[in-house]
Amino acid sequence: MNDRDDGPRIAPSVLSADFSRLAEQIRAVERGGADCLHLDVMDGHFVPNLTFGPMIVEAIRRLTELPLHTHLMIEEPHRYLEQFVQAGSDSVTVHVELYDDPVPVLSRIRDLGVRAGLTLNPDTPFERVEPVLSAVDLLLVMSVNPGFGGQRFRPEVLGKVTRAVDVRAREGLSFDIHIDGGIDETTAPAAARAGVDVLVAGSAVFTAPDPGAMVATLRRVARAARNDGR
Ligand code: DX5
Ligand code: ZN
Repeated sequence: MNDRDDGPRIAPSVLSADFSRLAEQIRAVERGGADCLHLDVMDGHFVPNLTFGPMIVEAIRRLTELPLHTHLMIEEPHRYLEQFVQAGSDSVTVHVELYDDPVPVLSRIRDLGVRAGLTLNPDTPFERVEPVLSAVDLLLVMSVNPGFGGQRFRPEVLGKVTRAVDVRAREGLSFDIHIDGGIDETTAPAAARAGVDVLVAGSAVFTAPDPGAMVATLRRVARAARNDGR
């Protein structure tokens, strides 16, 4: 059988958007076919940069019906989970580097009624997440060090994506695999071939002259890569 694969979903990260015209920018990526939005929350401690908190998530919630994935890059995320859920997040991810055992915080996120995600940094080995994959709804594989948009993609993290794909199949799990950092039309194909379900892209989308068209381009190149050789 030669079934076509629709390819990964596209999640623009608003980190690189122009916040003075956020409504317009979100409309543009919606028109381009974005599947969800990725929201980067940074506290200046876990990462050396500051962004926004639940107030802005709540404002974005009122601008769109797309699912909102909230990527927490903060210390003590468990203190703020409820606020980010109440603000309208559809999924919340925490970094595995913060926990000896992330299962309780993941259970807490699920108990709040949203999807629970676990993020791992480029230098964090896959073994840190492997034992707890049955407790996650999404795995966010960082392909740059978190903190800033516009960094270079690190292709060596794709080995973790293929391992996650294998474990998921072997153990009959169903979590989504997202990749975050340095995704553009030149790097999306390799990520798609490795098996990611969601491509997060910030600067590639929002510094493009037409963000909506860039969403469509990313989808096209990723889908083509996935169907190569089928
Ligand atoms: C980085 C954030 C990313 C960021 C990606 O810490 O987690 O989501 O927006 O930006 P680009 O796509 O520019 O690498
Ligand atoms: Zn992110």
